Amino acid sequence: MVGASTAFAIMASGLASDLVLVDINKEKAEGEAMDLGDAAAFIKPINVYAGTFEDCKDSNIIIFTAGANQKPGETRLDLVQKNVAILKESLPQLLKYSPDSIYLMVSNPIDVLTYVSLKISGLPTNQVFGSGTVLDTSRFKAELSEYCGVDPRNVHAYIVGEHGDSEVALWSTANVAGMGLEKFSELKGIEPVDRQEIAKRVRTAAYEIIRRKGATYYAIALSIKRICEAILRDENSILTVSGLVNDIYGIKDCCLSLPCIVNGSGRNKVLAIPMSVEEEDALRNSAQVLKQAIQQAGF
Ligand code: 2OP
Repeated sequence: MVGASTAFAIMASGLASDLVLVDINKEKAEGEAMDLGDAAAFIKPINVYAGTFEDCKDSNIIIFTAGANQKPGETRLDLVQKNVAILKESLPQLLKYSPDSIYLMVSNPIDVLTYVSLKISGLPTNQVFGSGTVLDTSRFKAELSEYCGVDPRNVHAYIVGEHGDSEVALWSTANVAGMGLEKFSELKGIEPVDRQEIAKRVRTAAYEIIRRKGATYYAIALSIKRICEAILRDENSILTVSGLVNDIYGIKDCCLSLPCIVNGSGRNKVLAIPMSVEEEDALRNSAQVLKQAIQQAGF
């Protein structure tokens, strides 16, 4: 569903000229491609079809969404063994045909799979990265926009760390129109923001959705489309993608999300955004959680 929804989002955006859908169930991929293809009269021309790893040869971007998803009550980290196994099997085949593509990892646990992909591929850190907390950052902005009563695009705030239970909300730099949230509430005459409640809602959003409908796919699909747009249009956009972090905030050799500049060559400069002491501690804790999961995965 994440792959199909992403295909839909990318197709509707007009960003791509060719879109290859690859699935272990070839018929399913064919059905999705046929369904999408039927919209030809309403969108910019696009060649969308079900194919093989070879058909993806030399793509600009390979979006990796294969894998098991969380069942109600499961955490993202519970998926490590299953999804690392799928990755180990398919990534070398993709690399064989597309050594120069940008690899955008989406399957969970994203941060662990991004690390494993970097190790398996030996590719540079700008070329292999994960969708990370781009979605969580959108959830955070949506919550803050509702609280402030302003357009989410005017809220600047980031979720960093693991795409998962140990993620960190950066309150110290959150702002609306250049104003900290305390100042904004004062100006608007509203109650001070309930940080704990909002951070919890963001952290547990996926659990709430999975409990109701079994999976999440629309918002992640648009997050992926947004990342692809920054790459294909060489936008230098600041997005909280997941990638290798070394020697920032005392964190070494771990993949997690921080605001990064994303452009035509992928994930570029990692921005060591100022953090409060508590936020930095929480980020280091998140790195510890992920390092453990990476070790459990045998890397
Ligand atoms: C999400 O956050 C489940 O990771 C997926 O929606």
